[in-house]
Amino acid sequence: MLGFQLTSAHAPVAHKAAPAGAVPNGVHKRTKVRSKSKKRDKDRAVKFIAETQDAMIQTGPTYKLPGAEKYIKSRMDLPIYQARVKLLLEISKAPTVIVVGETGSGKTTQLSQYIRDAGMDKGKMIACTQPRRVAAVSVANRVALETGCKIGSKVGYTVRFDDTTSRDTALKYMTDGMLLREAISDPKLSRYSVILLDEAHERTLMTDILFGVIKGVQKLRPELKVIIMSATLDAAKFSTYFDDCPVLYVQGRQYPVEILYTIEPQQDYVDSVFVTVLQIHQDEKPGDILVFLTGQEDIENVGALLQDASEKLDPKFGKLVVRPIFAALPPEQQMKVFEPVPKGSRKVVLATNIAETSITINGIRYVVDTGLVKAKTFNPNLSVESLMAQPVSQAQARQRTGRAGREAPGVCYRLFSEDLFRTLDSTTTPEIVRCNLASAVLNMKAMGVDDIIHFDFLDKPTTESLRAALMLIFSLGALDASGKLTTLGRRMARFPIEPQLAKTLISAERLGCVEEILTIVSMLSAPSIFFIPFNKREEVDLSVMKEFASLYGDHLTYLNVYKAYRQNKGNKTWCKDHFINMKSMKTVLDTRGQLAELCRKSNIEIRSSSDTDNIRKALVSGFFYNIAVLQDDGTYHPVSNRTEVALHPQSVLKGQKPKYVLYHELVKTKRYYLRVATVIEPEWAAEAAPTYFARTIT
Ligand code: CDP
Ligand code: MG
Repeated sequence: MLGFQLTSAHAPVAHKAAPAGAVPNGVHKRTKVRSKSKKRDKDRAVKFIAETQDAMIQTGPTYKLPGAEKYIKSRMDLPIYQARVKLLLEISKAPTVIVVGETGSGKTTQLSQYIRDAGMDKGKMIACTQPRRVAAVSVANRVALETGCKIGSKVGYTVRFDDTTSRDTALKYMTDGMLLREAISDPKLSRYSVILLDEAHERTLMTDILFGVIKGVQKLRPELKVIIMSATLDAAKFSTYFDDCPVLYVQGRQYPVEILYTIEPQQDYVDSVFVTVLQIHQDEKPGDILVFLTGQEDIENVGALLQDASEKLDPKFGKLVVRPIFAALPPEQQMKVFEPVPKGSRKVVLATNIAETSITINGIRYVVDTGLVKAKTFNPNLSVESLMAQPVSQAQARQRTGRAGREAPGVCYRLFSEDLFRTLDSTTTPEIVRCNLASAVLNMKAMGVDDIIHFDFLDKPTTESLRAALMLIFSLGALDASGKLTTLGRRMARFPIEPQLAKTLISAERLGCVEEILTIVSMLSAPSIFFIPFNKREEVDLSVMKEFASLYGDHLTYLNVYKAYRQNKGNKTWCKDHFINMKSMKTVLDTRGQLAELCRKSNIEIRSSSDTDNIRKALVSGFFYNIAVLQDDGTYHPVSNRTEVALHPQSVLKGQKPKYVLYHELVKTKRYYLRVATVIEPEWAAEAAPTYFARTIT
């Protein structure tokens, strides 16, 4: 059992207190708007307020379409509603503003609608970027409901491999990565009059690059409105970066949240979560529970345990309804977290850090925080990027805690000790300084940013990681000796996939195996193809994998899985018997379709080859950096560095131990593992990668 200790704090979440100098209507203004002509501003403001008040105060937001009325009340109840006129006024005056408001205040769903309703979109599109796909999809769906339209008409979303926008779309929710891709073909982003960069506090790689790109676009198009939205108060840095632009604070509501720490550190957080949730369910007042876990695997494990326990519970406690949410979950299932559960039962939302700020679920009174998050770290010297569970920052822990106090006082159960909390970093490190930049650098080059090292970054990545990225794309043949994008590089940048995968796909044309590589690339881009319940690992390893296993390794095994899946027409029972994750396979089909379409547009001929040598050669052309050689002591050494690594326990090659293997990625868990490996011939590497050593360029 867990022992919980009340902190001395017992405190409401202190950082939520409203900043001083509140002005009416819920907006706090901290930075003065710098204006050239006060008089002109004032006149404009008076006129603007009059118009806006006409449009919005008297009639409320415009609810023209049937179906939208039922959301009027909940929209008007949001904290941001009180602030709308002032917000619009400030936005009308300055080219860039920063809007800070705590999660759930209505920034993402409302502000873009206010802007459109006030006619500030001037007939062009409004874009609102999200770091996460799930958030873009769920928010767009919500806004479509509130507007009374079908998703894909007035309101749409664009995420990688899934675009629901149409000619009618006026309001577009999209991932930050997709807007960056659009900047490649349209460097002035001329389809947009307003761009909202949301969740700026998360400081994802793509959002960080967008800051610089959009700042550049504004120089060319001063009329472009940019709104930076953030859930944390430290907006000064953004303001300085955007020429001291105004920062507007939306006053939120926050009830006190009691924080409980565990007395002892926890050994097994899956078990701790399980116990804590049951404790809450049996002992605490009604109210839903939100649990922060690290990823799909944990979520499924905890979900299965809780489901099982719920069925055995004494009926007097009511049912526990488990609702997962993570990036790989299909949209219709994601939407289920927002649905109310039957009276008498209690909802448990099992989430990744997606629920930290990017989505808000009503009804949450209890938060269970494992204190962990899956985050990327990149070692440019070893060229290793790993996605690993690691401790959150104090800022993240506070943000998670706050989720329990949106509608009423709540409780947050931290599954770690108070001493540990004190050792956490105070804020989260921006992704740009801790991840692999190859893809980002290729995109920037394709946008015409020639001098990457001197790009106007909000936080500059280390020179080593920029160099490592430039070196990699240069070796792939995407850059010439002067650092300019080559024809090959331009073709590679058209594909929204890692540069190595794009190179593989393009090389496959010459080798006549684009069909096969399309499949392999799509399988690699999808989350966990196998859904293996944690108590069945051994059984699956022994039996099922054999059916698909290829002597050549995991890439070709993936190809076999896909072929078998197609032969069985994606049959549900077949998938279940073979532990195939149907959801992931659906994603594979979508991805494959879209990549094939891009191949056609790029005039890449899609042919099929049964020659496994060709398929493996194509892989080598993209992944020659990722070759490892077997050592006498039975370990492997990657050729690009001298780390000791091993084949992943789930690799079909692990019993075979071939001399030379190509791997998709190095992952670090307890040690370094080569994940998804294939046997290769060493001379293919020399043939494929003349630029790895010499400066010969296409
Ligand atoms: O962006 P911010 O965190 O300030 O708030 P928001 O995402 O606009 O959410 C405002 C309200 O809309 C919250 O009360 C959410 O519960 C609700 N919402 C929803 O019901 N379904 C969604 N898919 C998204 C938001
Ligand atoms: Mg938001």
